Amino acid sequence: MTSTPAQHDRILILDFGSQVTQLIARRLRESGVYCEIWPYNAAPEARIRAFAPKGIIFSGGPASVTEGESPRAPDYAFASGLPILGICYGQQTLAHQLGGTVEGGHAREFGRAVVTVTGDCPITQGVWAKGAQETVWMSHGDRITVLPPGFRVVAESEGAPFALIADDARRYYGTMFHPEVVHTPHGAALLRNFTHGVCGCTGDWTMAGYRAETIAKIRAQVGKGRVVCGLSGGVDSSVAAVLLHEAIGDQLTCIYVDHGLMRANESAQVVKTFRDRFNIKLVHRDASELFLGQLSGVTDPEQKRKIIGRLFIEVFEEEQNKIGGADFLAQGTLYPDVIESVSATGGPSVTIKSHHNVGGLPEGMRMQLVEPLRELFKDEVRVLGRELGIPEEIVGRHPFPGPGLAIRIPGEVTREKADLLRQVDSIYLEEIRAAGLYDTIWQAFAVLLPVRTVGVMGDGRTYDMACALRAVTSTDGMTAEFYPFDMGFLGRVANRIVNEVRGVNRVTYDITSKPPGTIEWE
Ligand code: XMP
Repeated sequence: MTSTPAQHDRILILDFGSQVTQLIARRLRESGVYCEIWPYNAAPEARIRAFAPKGIIFSGGPASVTEGESPRAPDYAFASGLPILGICYGQQTLAHQLGGTVEGGHAREFGRAVVTVTGDCPITQGVWAKGAQETVWMSHGDRITVLPPGFRVVAESEGAPFALIADDARRYYGTMFHPEVVHTPHGAALLRNFTHGVCGCTGDWTMAGYRAETIAKIRAQVGKGRVVCGLSGGVDSSVAAVLLHEAIGDQLTCIYVDHGLMRANESAQVVKTFRDRFNIKLVHRDASELFLGQLSGVTDPEQKRKIIGRLFIEVFEEEQNKIGGADFLAQGTLYPDVIESVSATGGPSVTIKSHHNVGGLPEGMRMQLVEPLRELFKDEVRVLGRELGIPEEIVGRHPFPGPGLAIRIPGEVTREKADLLRQVDSIYLEEIRAAGLYDTIWQAFAVLLPVRTVGVMGDGRTYDMACALRAVTSTDGMTAEFYPFDMGFLGRVANRIVNEVRGVNRVTYDITSKPPGTIEWE
């Protein structure tokens, strides 16, 4: 399942190592264009021809074309006669390779900048008018000083006289700024002008189409074989399971390993949704005694993770043997997990990121993999989930770590502590939903702290547990900002927790961003 049928218009994005290359793909897909990201040095002519793109985009990157060893676009990109859009570093290598001059040592422009539109071209059509001043997002040190033959300037800024350049005859365009980031307000429209206007893409990449094609592909791959899928109740495994079920019905069995460290009512909801509503064959194994037993006395976070990972595989294999084995193992691998990455220096090392999701994969199992979400980004998985009729409370759910509440209980994990934490967490999430904040926040949860503090309730002294509340905004979990709740909200939640959860008498709010903190406490 590595490629999509040839009838879709495709754009090839050559990655020069920018932090925001994935956003180019996101913007294109939002406008209905199928695209793939390849390292700039993994695009030989034969591979490009087989992919048959309607245009090529060169991403930004950290290198400088003024340095001898810096990355270059493959010659075939130019020989193909396809339209090209170069962004930031991509613009500079485009200019350099076509006979222009790029120099370093100019004032660095970083962040918000204003460009003046001095001309027009198919990229600006209907978006930027000649004479207008427009906001863009820049991040560069080098700049073009002499344009290559055939090019003209369409927009300029103080730091970048060649902010947007065009060669209409060859259909080559270059931007010094990043149209793919939201800080360039009209960036998506400019990109759309390139893909739809210049390259002639029709916007034929839709989730309804993806659903039908993927179902056909699953059927072709699996035939009459049997498939097992580890269901965790999270978005990815849920969408994969429902899609597989639609494709192969009872040839699919889902195994839900319940480690006793799920949130309140989660296990019941998984069973209700998948077995009762979707009619999927579901094995629900309550292994909480086993997991909590083996976690007894363990306080080291890494050791907790290892124990849970190992037990998960053991239990999964046991259940899988009980149902007589299977030919295929389904996994909810996503596109960001399989994008080949370019090293930070733009050098030749090309690695494939490995997928690590405790909710999924017994390693070393001799089964073929079925990965129906391999081509999708996380928010596309959500769109597909809605398309498949999966309830919003699952599709829109915050991420939840494979080891579950174990890594939200610093110190030893016990059933009593897990029960306390579930109560705290559900009050907190209930209030977040009631305040209409759930979808604005990327992830919110409570942590049960390994300390007891003194309090007073009524006439009595209490000596109970403390908890921390955490809420962050993020786009991918790699970096995160704490969510700035208003104090009234926090006070209300704290009041409810201390009054309703017997055993917790103090509430704190975690205001650490990532980095330097992590999102989870362990
Ligand atoms: P951190 O704590 O590293 O978390 O900032 C980043 C994101 O990853 C999730 N996370 C995990 N997910 N298994 C998972 O499936 C794990 O072991 C794990 N550890 C952290 C975390 O919830 C956050 O969304």
